[in-house]
Amino acid sequence: MTKQLTVAIVGATGAVGTKMREQLYKRNFPIKNIKFLASAKSAGKDIEFGGNTYKIEEATPEAFEGVDVALFSAGGSVSEKLAPEAVKRGAVVIDNTSHFRMHPEVPLVVPEVNREALKEHKGIIANPNCSTIQMVVALQPIREKLGLTKVVVSTYQAVSGSGIAAIEELRTQSAEWDKGKDVEANVLPVKSEQKHYPIARNLLPQIDVFTENGFTKEEMKMINETKKIMGMPNLSVAATCVRVPVVNGHSESVYIEVEKEANVEDIFAILKDAPGVVLQDDINNQVYPMPLFTEGEDPVFVGRIRQDLDNKKGFHLWVVADNLLKGAALNSIQIAEAMLEDNLL
Ligand SMILES: NC(=O)c1ccc[n+]([C@@H]2O[C@H](COP(=O)([O-])OP(=O)(O)OC[C@H]3O[C@@H](n4cnc5c(N)ncnc54)[C@H](OP(=O)(O)O)[C@@H]3O)[C@@H](O)[C@H]2O)c1
Repeated sequence: MTKQLTVAIVGATGAVGTKMREQLYKRNFPIKNIKFLASAKSAGKDIEFGGNTYKIEEATPEAFEGVDVALFSAGGSVSEKLAPEAVKRGAVVIDNTSHFRMHPEVPLVVPEVNREALKEHKGIIANPNCSTIQMVVALQPIREKLGLTKVVVSTYQAVSGSGIAAIEELRTQSAEWDKGKDVEANVLPVKSEQKHYPIARNLLPQIDVFTENGFTKEEMKMINETKKIMGMPNLSVAATCVRVPVVNGHSESVYIEVEKEANVEDIFAILKDAPGVVLQDDINNQVYPMPLFTEGEDPVFVGRIRQDLDNKKGFHLWVVADNLLKGAALNSIQIAEAMLEDNLL
């Protein structure tokens, strides 16, 4: 019989936490008890799960007593403070924030790519950045057959990647535009920055704050996390991350260079049977992935596959996925499922 577990969701009221609740129920995760944790402001409020109503609790160290698996998505500072407390009390933490991702002792896992890294865990497993997850799911099968030397990615990221407040901002601004009112911006590109710009009828070439080298933190996450997950420290990776006025679903234009000579048919054949990938590429019938149609879907969708015109080992791909599912909640729960199967919980 499958082991039944006590699960806690930290950040249960948020954009990712809401999807975690849905996914745990939908995937029939073996739950003995479940706890919904959030900030003090939400404590005592009702929350729905599987047709039942539960009370939200404040996330405190004591809240993790008796918890087997704690799914964190309440921001880096909450993970920094409370993930070690959860581990101290015997829980395995699967953390959606960026806080532990590059820590050398913390596995950064996409089960289709590096499931075996879970065996090395010391209590905390990091769930990668949303844009990185969908890209590596598409690249790993190509890398296995053809090798991989270079990745250049430009992203078109939905506002849901920045949480509930950003979704609200896009909705409000779109309505203000339609009524001919002045548009107010308070959340994007980064809440804590001095300047904010409208996202409705716009796009923002800044996701997260800038780092010293001119790349944003989001771009550096894609660069560093790709190398860590794929176990390729010398892979050449460059990223430009852009926020677009799409509610949900991240899209990516990805240019890759492989080691072995190949053609478009080879890439088609590889991706057709790749785990977690759906090939959507039929230009004669205008078939290609789009974020509106990937909402609520588990897989990573790949299309518009082209061989570069100047480099026979260069290929262009268009990669789209639901960032709140494969990019966050679903990947976290797939990690928990893999750990359960591998007797790591
Ligand atoms: N959105 C994505 O696609 C995505 C993908 C991967 C990772 N992430 C990461 O996941 C985290 C959450 O993202 P989100 O998009 O779900 O944000 P969100 O919609 O703003 O939700 C934030 C959640 O954190 C809770 N929270 C805030 N402060 C807290 C505190 N001091 N103690 C306990 N809980 C607290 C909030 O509870 P209250 O309702 O009580 O305030 C809410 O449940 C972030 O670190 C983000 O970087 C997001």
